Amino acid sequence: MATADPVTLVVRPGRPLGGAFTPPGDKSITHRAFLLGLLAEGETSVEAANPGADGAATLSCAAALGARVQSRDGVIRIAGRGGALVEPDRVLDCGNSGTTLRLLAGVLASQPFLAVLSGDASLNARPVARVIEPLRRMGASLHARDGDRLPPLVVRGAALTGVEFDAPTASAQVASSILLAGLGARGVTSVGTTAGVRDHTPRMLERFGLPIRAQGGDGGVTRWTVEGPVVPRAARVRIPGDFSAAAFFLAAAAATPGARVTARGVSLNPTRTGLLATLEAMGAMVETRAIAASPADGTGGEPVGEITVTGPDRLEATTIAPDRVAAMIDEIPAWAIAASAARGVSRLTGAGELRIKESDRIAALAVNLERLGIAVEELPDGLAITGGRVAGGTVDAALDHRIAMAFAVLATRASGPVVIHGAGGIATSYPGFADALAALGGDVTSGDAAVAARG
Ligand code: S3P
Repeated sequence: MATADPVTLVVRPGRPLGGAFTPPGDKSITHRAFLLGLLAEGETSVEAANPGADGAATLSCAAALGARVQSRDGVIRIAGRGGALVEPDRVLDCGNSGTTLRLLAGVLASQPFLAVLSGDASLNARPVARVIEPLRRMGASLHARDGDRLPPLVVRGAALTGVEFDAPTASAQVASSILLAGLGARGVTSVGTTAGVRDHTPRMLERFGLPIRAQGGDGGVTRWTVEGPVVPRAARVRIPGDFSAAAFFLAAAAATPGARVTARGVSLNPTRTGLLATLEAMGAMVETRAIAASPADGTGGEPVGEITVTGPDRLEATTIAPDRVAAMIDEIPAWAIAASAARGVSRLTGAGELRIKESDRIAALAVNLERLGIAVEELPDGLAITGGRVAGGTVDAALDHRIAMAFAVLATRASGPVVIHGAGGIATSYPGFADALAALGGDVTSGDAAVAARG
């Protein structure tokens, strides 16, 4: 897979960010559209898909499983398999993408053949027991490295029976994997998961004509139920903008007096936008305008709109309650940038899952914030960040896209240049990030050559 972005970024301090931008299509929703397109009967079209390497990994796995894929004029067309996939003649390369690997495990669990899922060094260090256990209970045979803990993951599909499963971790990937397996299983599959985890899979199943029952919601547990075997019906899907991509610029605006940034065409799904309430609680001005969608828009029941964040003269520290973590799990790096500008100590707990993302994000945030002069206490399942002045310096994003983007926007209010090594991961989700930062007024230079020239 091509890595479009350079490995090193240099960001120099400048004026507060200002203006409007449109983030790329939502990465989570893109994976689901591609996978249901693969399974569906008929031709699915996906507009405004996320252009990053993670989505490309899912699409090339879909092709290796027999889908015919064409891309023209910004539309990806997928001729689906009507439920019966083709045994792949090679290892399925999931790249850096946990969502690709875990959701595909569910898709493959009911297919009568063998498939091997593997990824890069980061992905092959992330846990898979969480999907192995429920999928085995449904009847599939799965094995993985290191005592069934880590990829590569071998899936031998079988005739499945529906299960009732209560996921021990707050993970949309696990819940989605089980629901996708449930489509190919006989009987009722029901999964209970922490309220607040993203609900794109249920919404996308409905878009593909499949009934799904949702119970619960606030406080406790959400339970999703499907009945199989069923085959999705091809759909036309338009992917809304990715809130998680937009979050870096919104958090940077909150952190800088005088900054004002608008994200256009962005998903307003409440299971993703927990960061907005947090920024508001810290004193930022947040304006949200929903755009009424018609079924013809193809946004698959996803609310879409515009978000403007204005930086106040002073941001106040905040504590993130553990029950808000799920709805901002991918926005913690962006939040850390806001917290580093706030008066007082901001705290996060109940976020141990961050240690097993594309990097150990708790450690990566703590080490790199300290390198730029921000006082941080690393907790087993969170962080305590004391706001203050940001110095220039060098950080290492460890190839984690969200760590790289967080430090790139933090650098806009540093007292000197910030060099971000290991920023190539940005291409997994937001290949146009550096250009978007520059268009909002950031002084960003790409590439190792720039570092050498500037010293
Ligand atoms: C995702 C779910 C989250 C999130 C990841 C994408 C998804 O992971 O962190 O970036 O698309 O379902 P978990 O569900 O494992 O928390």
